Amino acid sequence: MITHTLSIAYTEVTGISGLTDEDADLLKEAWLACDLAYAPYSDFHVGAALRLANGFIFKGNNQENSAYPSGLCAERVAVFAASAMHPGVAIQTIAVVAKTKVFNLSSPVTPCGACRQVIAEYEMLSGKPIRIILQGNSDKIWILEGINNLLPLMFHGAELKK
Ligand code: THU
Repeated sequence: MITHTLSIAYTEVTGISGLTDEDADLLKEAWLACDLAYAPYSDFHVGAALRLANGFIFKGNNQENSAYPSGLCAERVAVFAASAMHPGVAIQTIAVVAKTKVFNLSSPVTPCGACRQVIAEYEMLSGKPIRIILQGNSDKIWILEGINNLLPLMFHGAELKK
């Protein structure tokens, strides 16, 4: 019997002064998107902004629906829009932020499982790690270099072709 151990890594910085100018700009775009979220049912507002390798920035926010499962997370709104308009262009960085009036989000919010799998799909397509920047209702910012740090042992499309 062998027990395998995997490790993940993330960097924590305090405030946008700990980020590069490019990353700080992207985080600001995510907050702008967050302010436009349609989240009347959860009152949990999420914004995402991503930068493509060709320089384009795409934004998304959560879009809820009275038939709850019909809504979509901010990350997937942004990622699918980017792939729809620039298919095959690598995502370099995605920033995701969240806020709610209902309670205090003192730590960054990490993407849900479905969004992790979707981000993984595009990372595998380009073959380059996607930097993920996360922030909640505080100065604490987490930076992850690649989806492997959020989704170890992820399902890979190659598994379908074996
Ligand atoms: N939500 C996101 O937009 N991204 C996530 O990664 C987690 C959850 C949204 C979905 C729903 O509108 C609200 O947050 C509460 O789950």
